[in-house]
Amino acid sequence: MSEKAPVRIAVIGAGAMGRNHIRFVTEEPEAELIAIADAFEGARATADAAGVPFFTDAAQMMDEVKPEAVIIATPNGLHLGVAREAITRNIVPLVEKPISDDLEDAEKFAAEAEAAGVPVLVGQHRRHNPFVKKAKEIIESGELGRLTVSSFHYMIYKNDEYFDVEWRRKKGAGPILVNLVHDVDLLRYLLGEPVAIQGMQSSAARGFETEDSAVVNVRFADGSLASMTISDATASPWNWEACAREDPQYRPFDADAYFIGGTKGALSLPRLQVMSYDGASSWHKPLKMDVPAVDPALPHKMQLKHFVRVVRGEEAPVVTPADNVKTLRALNAVKRAAETGELVEL
Ligand SMILES: NC(=O)c1ccc[n+]([C@@H]2O[C@H](COP(=O)([O-])OP(=O)(O)OC[C@H]3O[C@@H](n4cnc5c(N)ncnc54)[C@H](O)[C@@H]3O)[C@@H](O)[C@H]2O)c1
Repeated sequence: MSEKAPVRIAVIGAGAMGRNHIRFVTEEPEAELIAIADAFEGARATADAAGVPFFTDAAQMMDEVKPEAVIIATPNGLHLGVAREAITRNIVPLVEKPISDDLEDAEKFAAEAEAAGVPVLVGQHRRHNPFVKKAKEIIESGELGRLTVSSFHYMIYKNDEYFDVEWRRKKGAGPILVNLVHDVDLLRYLLGEPVAIQGMQSSAARGFETEDSAVVNVRFADGSLASMTISDATASPWNWEACAREDPQYRPFDADAYFIGGTKGALSLPRLQVMSYDGASSWHKPLKMDVPAVDPALPHKMQLKHFVRVVRGEEAPVVTPADNVKTLRALNAVKRAAETGELVEL
């Protein structure tokens, strides 16, 4: 533990994810939970259990307890209103992903945050997964040669009762908009910025208004390509949730969800199996497999440690609002491409 006083953090929005953040903050020696705000009076019990004051108004909480930092885990449409209240008070926010469900407002906010000079971290927690960071290092080192083709899979089966809630069957829901923000964020982080996307979607398996399955092709500026297979009606282990062991509500399975290929080698994630040839690549030679040693760590906890350093001014946020805007643009392009069949250029 450092000599510095723990960073004083309040959590805003004590729902499913907010309660996880509350637990992470109380478990982190460099952080101190000092208050909870939630518009729903029923969340008071969570604050009582944590032994911190409770507020139904986030702005009033910020004025009264003066946190150094806040974690915003409200519904997506409310993130930016609360984040603006924080930055005008010089309070550093960690805003849950996606930063907003409104791309234009997210762009506006990114500019405002930059002008205000207050760092803002967006909660794309998978970026803090040590296996992802190591994969990025390997790709950047040139060990895989020039990137050629990669495939990212989100093939999962959501239980049928999940769809008893009406909005989940309607246009605007579906796995692309509901789930893919993490995969698109890692696609950009690991492979680069997409310049063109094409796709197809289908609702044949469940018969709902929204898609249950989609396939998407992506082209990057350097000419490399990737595909994404997306489905919430597919009984398979090939999804980050099952493979990465980040969240106990998904049963772990020894498999990979992402396959990244280059002229000299290839790797899969999250198991981080790295394949390459000795010397020049050739389909007639045996491939060797290396699994670099990486200490596993829970990405949400690593994200919080990073956030503490951001608040202390020791590090710049690894996912800024401007960066998350790029992920949202790419995600919207995936949706448009799959829906219309058009080639969407970015
Ligand atoms: N990174 C991750 O792993 C991850 C996982 C799940 C959810 N999330 C994100 O976390 C956020 C919350 O999702 P959730 O599943 O916890 O939702 P939720 O509905 O369970 O919780 C939202 C909470 O915000 C409260 N709230 C609503 N308006 C408020 C306001 N104006 N001020 C204060 N509190 C208010 C609600 O009462 C509720 O308790 C979303 O942005 C979601 O995308 C992230």
